[in-house]
Amino acid sequence: MSIKNAVRMVDITKTFAAKAAKVVANNKVCLDINYGEVLALLGENGSGKTTLMNMLSGIYAPDSGDIYVNGKHVTINNPSDAFALHIGMIHQHFKLVEVMTAAENIILGLDEGNKLIDLKNVHTRVKDFCDRYGFVVNPDKKVYDMSVSEKQTLEIVKQLYRGADILILDEPTAVLTPQETQKLFAVLRNMKADGKAVVIITHKLHEVMDISDRVVVLLKGNYVGELMTKDTNPQELTNMMVGRPTTLNIDRSKPENLRKCLEVKNLSVKDIYGVLKLKDVNFTCYGGEVLGVAGISGSGQRELLEAIAGLEKLEPGAEILYTPNTPGAQEENLAGMSPVRIKNMGISLAFVPEDRLGMGLVGNMDIAENMMLKSYKDGSGPLLDLKKPKALAEKVVKELEVLTPSIHTPVRRLSGGNIQKVLVGREIEQHPSLIMTAYAVRGLDINTSYTIYNLMDEQKQKGVAVLFVGEDLDVLLELCDRILVLCAGQVSGIVDARKTTKEEVGLLMTHLG
Ligand SMILES: Nc1ncnc2c1ncn2[C@@H]1O[C@H](COP(=O)(O)OP(=O)(O)OP(=O)(O)O)[C@@H](O)[C@H]1O
Ligand SMILES: [Mg+2]
Repeated sequence: MSIKNAVRMVDITKTFAAKAAKVVANNKVCLDINYGEVLALLGENGSGKTTLMNMLSGIYAPDSGDIYVNGKHVTINNPSDAFALHIGMIHQHFKLVEVMTAAENIILGLDEGNKLIDLKNVHTRVKDFCDRYGFVVNPDKKVYDMSVSEKQTLEIVKQLYRGADILILDEPTAVLTPQETQKLFAVLRNMKADGKAVVIITHKLHEVMDISDRVVVLLKGNYVGELMTKDTNPQELTNMMVGRPTTLNIDRSKPENLRKCLEVKNLSVKDIYGVLKLKDVNFTCYGGEVLGVAGISGSGQRELLEAIAGLEKLEPGAEILYTPNTPGAQEENLAGMSPVRIKNMGISLAFVPEDRLGMGLVGNMDIAENMMLKSYKDGSGPLLDLKKPKALAEKVVKELEVLTPSIHTPVRRLSGGNIQKVLVGREIEQHPSLIMTAYAVRGLDINTSYTIYNLMDEQKQKGVAVLFVGEDLDVLLELCDRILVLCAGQVSGIVDARKTTKEEVGLLMTHLG
C-alpha cells in the first residue's frame, strides 16, 4: 500500500516570549503525518509536542516554517482554518459544555448554512460513526453525567462529525483506565483502517509500542529522529527522548524504624445513592514505609483517600487513628474532623486529578503564589511572608526540574507535565507525616515519573508514611513495601511487595480472598 502524505511540517519554529526569558518551544521541527497510519509523538515534559500540534489545530501560528496539507501550502490562523482542512484535535483539557447534551455539544458552533439543525439527523449521523468505529455515545446524555472516558469519546465523535480526516489526540490515555485505553485503541485502529491519519501523544512507551506505526521524538523543542515502531524498543526510545543512555530504576530502601502512623478500623463509606463504596476496611500504615494501593479503577481508591482526608461521610463505627511524626504526639481519631483540621495535622492529599488545573492549582497565579495557597496556614499570615513561598517555589522548580522561564510564570503557561510537578512538589514541601497520593505520575514523562517514585522513597526514609495509589502493577511491585489490594470496596489482601507477583495482585484485584 502506498503511503499518502496528509501533513508536512517543514522547519517549524515557535517561541514564546515570557517577561524575562524567551522559550523556544519548537526549533525548526520537520514532521510528516500520513493517512492510514498512527504516528506517536514522544518527548519529555515541555519538549514541545502540544505546541507543535496546536499549530495544526489553529491555536498558535508558527513564527516561521511551512505547513502543507494534502500537498498544498496552507496557513492555519485559527481553529476554523483547521476544520476546513479536516484537521481535528482532542486536547489535554476537554472543551465541552457541561450542561448540554452530547448531541448539543456536537452541533455547537456548527453553522450549517444557518438552517435549523435537525437533531434527529444528528442522532442518525452520530450512530453511524459509532457503528463504523466502535464507539458508544448516548446523544441525549448531559456532559455532567459523563465519565471522563465518555467525554473523551464525545470529543472524538465531535471532530469526526465535523469531517476530521486528520485526528490529533493529546495524551488521551492519561485519564483512562487500562481497559478504557484498549477500547480507545480499538477505535483508533478502525480509523486507521478507514484511511484516516492519527497522531497520538503519550508518555507510556508500552502504548507507543502497541498502537503506533511510526514514532517521532522531540527533545527540548528539537526533532531528534523517527523510527518505525516495529524496528525499535522502549529502551531505545527512552534514550532518544532523554538524549543519552538512561537506566530507569527505583532505589527502594529497606523500611527502617517503622512507627505506626495510621490505623483504619471498620471503615465503610456509602455514595449518594446509598451504595457501599468501602466496606469494613481495616489496615495499618507505618511511618517509614510505602504502602501501595492496587485495584481496578473505581474499586474504592478515591473514597479511601478522601475518607482519611475528611472528605467523605463515614458510616458509624469507623475509626481513623492517626499519630503525627512529631515528638510526643498523641494518637487521635480523625473520624468526624474537618478536612482543614486534618490537613493541618500533617496529612497531605495529593490527588492528581483528571483536570490538573481544576484542583489545587490556580492557573492564572504564578508558581510562587500557588505555593502560598498551601503554606499560609502555618501561622505566618496569608500575605505577610512572601519569602517562604518563593523559596519553596525555587526549591520545587530546581529539584523536580520544572521547565519554566521563572517562578513568576503563571501556572497555566507550563506544559501539562510541568504543572503536575508543581502540584506534587508543593505537597512534599509541606513536610507531612502522611502523604497520600493517587495517580501521581499521570501525564509525566518516564524520566520524571522515576524522579517522583524516588522522591516517595526519600520521604519514606525520612519517616513519612506514604500511601500510594497506583495503576501500574510493575511500579507498585518495584516501589512499595506492602501492597493493599482493593476489590469492590473491600480489602482483598495485603501483600509483601518484595515477595508477591503481578499475577497474585491481579487475582486479588478481581477476587475477594
Ligand atoms: N502559552 C505559552 N506561553 C509561554 N510558554 C509556553 C506556552 N505554551 C507552551 N509554553 C512553553 O513551551 C514549552 C513546550 O511546551 P509544550 O506544552 O508544547 O510541551 P509538551 O511536550 O506538550 O509537554 P507535556 O508532556 O508536559 O505536555 C514549555 O517550556 C512550555 O512552558
Ligand atoms: Mg503537552
